[in-house]
Amino acid sequence: MYVCICNAVTESQIHALVDNGVNTLEAVQQITGCSGTCGNCTDLAEQTIRKARRRKVLQFSIPVLDMHTNQSAASFDSLT
Ligand code: FES
Repeated sequence: MYVCICNAVTESQIHALVDNGVNTLEAVQQITGCSGTCGNCTDLAEQTIRKARRRKVLQFSIPVLDMHTNQSAASFDSLT
């Protein structure tokens, strides 16, 4: 899904940037141009960045019980 039509920035691009430590609107804007043209996407871009941050925190910080070994796994990723 496009977040910024003017600069063809997608939700998945923003998630990838946040996963790589780019987690402010200003930084995303510097790299992609997102919200820097008409500005109509600014609220959606900020929401997308917040959503990506939450997903990243959940992905890397919540211990998960592996149902097969009954051991605590490091992350959701380690179960896949
Ligand atoms: S839609 Fe993003 S700057 Fe116009």
